[in-house]
Amino acid sequence: MNTRSVFLPLWLSITSLIASLPAAAQFGVGGGAAQELYQNNCASCHGKEMQGGQGSSLIDDQWQFGASNQQIAAAIRDGIEDAGMPAFKQTLDEQQIRSLVILMREQKQMAASAAMQKKQRADGGVFTSTHHNFTLQRVGEGTGILWGLDFMPDGSVIATQQDGVLWLFKDGERSGPISGTPKVWHYGQGGLLDVKLHPDYDKNRWIYLSFSETSSPGRGMTAIVRGRIKDGRWVEQEDIFRTAKAFHGSGRVHFGSRLVFKDGYLFFSIGDRGDMHSAQDLASPNGKIHRIYDDGRIPKDNPFAGKTAGGKPAFASIWTYGNRNPQGLDSHPLTGELWETEHGPRGGDEVNRIEKGNNYGWPVITHGMNYNGTPITDKTEQAGMQQPKLYWVPSIAACGAEFYEGGRFPKWRNNLFVGGLSTQQLHRLQISADGEIVADEIILKGQGRVRDVGSGPDGNIYVLLNRRSPDRGGVYRLVPRQ
Ligand code: HEC
Repeated sequence: MNTRSVFLPLWLSITSLIASLPAAAQFGVGGGAAQELYQNNCASCHGKEMQGGQGSSLIDDQWQFGASNQQIAAAIRDGIEDAGMPAFKQTLDEQQIRSLVILMREQKQMAASAAMQKKQRADGGVFTSTHHNFTLQRVGEGTGILWGLDFMPDGSVIATQQDGVLWLFKDGERSGPISGTPKVWHYGQGGLLDVKLHPDYDKNRWIYLSFSETSSPGRGMTAIVRGRIKDGRWVEQEDIFRTAKAFHGSGRVHFGSRLVFKDGYLFFSIGDRGDMHSAQDLASPNGKIHRIYDDGRIPKDNPFAGKTAGGKPAFASIWTYGNRNPQGLDSHPLTGELWETEHGPRGGDEVNRIEKGNNYGWPVITHGMNYNGTPITDKTEQAGMQQPKLYWVPSIAACGAEFYEGGRFPKWRNNLFVGGLSTQQLHRLQISADGEIVADEIILKGQGRVRDVGSGPDGNIYVLLNRRSPDRGGVYRLVPRQ
């Protein structure tokens, strides 16, 4: 089947539709085509809410016939004759069966979530977790959605606000907005995005900003500049990354973008801009991790520099491709490897280890489905495409990520902290010496959408927590407590 022609227009219209819905509806469970399939084919036996009836509950995490996605799909496809479970291979195709499996995983999480919420509630102000207990302290508050953060040498927090404002927070005081910052295109998921200090900031005072900008009505793209702050003003700005107008699109979503300095290079991400197939197109900057020098020049030894793609020149700054919307990026403190979180479709957020020239598969392979419950593909793997190190079904709406390098939470050192938006979760991922994720613990839940995470110079963990209506973000820090 030509999935492109069948699903792309539908997907695009749904994308623009969901951008206008509240978060709960965007990632909320049970809507769309998969739910309809379930109600028509399965509810009579397994119950309207999957709670069980003539057939067993599908949300209690008890699987008599195997718990893996493959085994559950096989039960639906081939049936379980002796037990009275009919085979659906005549009526449902592989993609529909896959979307039903994802739907079951979502419903299960919903059922478990009430209990989870209770467990994660601060008890007398103290949050408990496997290794460390902590309190959550407010450092400061913005006036809109806070997006990215970094730390100034004096320990203050520099943070972007999506509508274009750059703030400084210190000792409970807020200063700013810094005047003269670039005009951003605050549109859909775009706006002022990440902020990062140059690793040699002490000497050169450069601060980098990523943001979306518009070139003609309704069209725009992610760009990067650097500048300096003097007397509360943004000055001496230089362009670091900007694409030709031909690459400016009308998509409201998936601008990326995170900035990471490593080994003298600047790595950054751009999402697929809602045009999923562009992630596989090496002539397009969309759906990629890029590598450039700190002054914007493009390294000659980039994997696709000087090559062609479909008769066009490949986009020379591409480092990896097939990345849907990378919203978290950091380098491992010990190994120096780049780790990325990727905001997936419905069911299929990923954590990837980013390596030169690799294809991470979007949208050819994915563990998720479209938000409206229609399948994207039934393929979760293919030769030549990387598997994620971890994926979440259902999605946590993965966003900012950072390795903890401080000393105040000794057992969390070198763990990767990942924020979730719709789920309002902060995840702690433990990575083994051979690069596998061996633990995934939710250490914060229900405190706000976790847009970015930072490992503070004071040894505390900083998070940007955003609440809805009124849209107002705060800078908070996790501080150890016995
Ligand atoms: C005619 C009733 C009936 C219908 C319709 C039906 N099932 Fe079942 N299903 C069963 C029974 C009975 C079992 C056996 C397990 C049990 O309940 O003891 C079962 C088992 C399963 C299992 C395996 C559970 C396990 O513990 O491993 C899955 C998964 C499943 N069904 C999914 C579905 C889905 C999805 C649909 C719709 C496409 C569906 N079923 C439609 C009756 C039904």
